[in-house]
Amino acid sequence: MKNFTCVQDLGDIQSALKEAFEIKKDRFQYAELGKNKTLMMIFFNSSLRTRLSTQKAALNLGMNVIVLDIAQGAWKLETERGVIMDGDKPEHLLEAIPVMGCYCDIIGVRSFARFENRDDDYNEVIINQFIQHSGRPVFSMEAATRHPLQSFADLITIEEYKKTARPKVVMTWAPHPRPLPQAVPNSFAEWMNVTDYEFVITHPEGYELAPEFVGNARVEYDQMEAFKDADFIYAKSWGSYAADTYGQVLSKDRNWTVGEKQMAVTNNAYFMHCLPVRRNMIVADEVIESPQSIVIQEAANREISATVVLKKMLESLK
Ligand code: CP
Repeated sequence: MKNFTCVQDLGDIQSALKEAFEIKKDRFQYAELGKNKTLMMIFFNSSLRTRLSTQKAALNLGMNVIVLDIAQGAWKLETERGVIMDGDKPEHLLEAIPVMGCYCDIIGVRSFARFENRDDDYNEVIINQFIQHSGRPVFSMEAATRHPLQSFADLITIEEYKKTARPKVVMTWAPHPRPLPQAVPNSFAEWMNVTDYEFVITHPEGYELAPEFVGNARVEYDQMEAFKDADFIYAKSWGSYAADTYGQVLSKDRNWTVGEKQMAVTNNAYFMHCLPVRRNMIVADEVIESPQSIVIQEAANREISATVVLKKMLESLK
């Protein structure tokens, strides 16, 4: 696997899951694979889980790790081509990227949607420039439209906890004070759509995701109806994708906050969220603290998904 930005890059999903469970039994079994190889992690945005789990995964594989936070200590980067650089950004991404590539073997990039221009976000202009100009294999640590390391960990978690071969998985929109990118819900939908699970997306009208991500999912605007008999509830907030309201908050309706009332109509569903989560906006204290909440186990699986992805990329370097 050269680059990793979406589910298709991983190849056969069942064999990737098999590899994940094999690595989970002994996460240090490939500790020689990354010897004398360097991972560079580039963050344009903040992170707790991705930063720690990806670094841990690289250490599991014996790699060296360099972390660069673009907003702290690096030169401010211009990202647009053709700009007269007489402002506050002294370096262009088109020089910075190949320079970064000189010092490492694999690059991870976190670069969120900016909500300035939908086409720029959905064309993934930042991570694609890394793929084009770094001369190194590149993987997404959450880009503008997808968060595949998170979705892979989500899938591993569902496989671990499912009680039936074909569980009902419901992804619900939830309120948030600020507009959040669609990367996590897009990506989760993309990964659920390659399984044979029953997959339902529920959100208020106006919050439709891009059709290419919704795929074959059933969209249900009535949250209580969607939750009926669900085995897994996956909560997430996102900003509008619609062309005329792109990146806006259309609703802060706290009736959509996942509470005990909604969970009561499920099939004793597990509660999932990628974290960080705003309590009592996205989910009630009682739900996230209940035995059915598997958010910590889900976060723990980020180490496993990252180890599988880095292992596959290291194997492709040979
Ligand atoms: N879920 C997730 O990616 O967490 P961070 O933003 O903290 O990395």
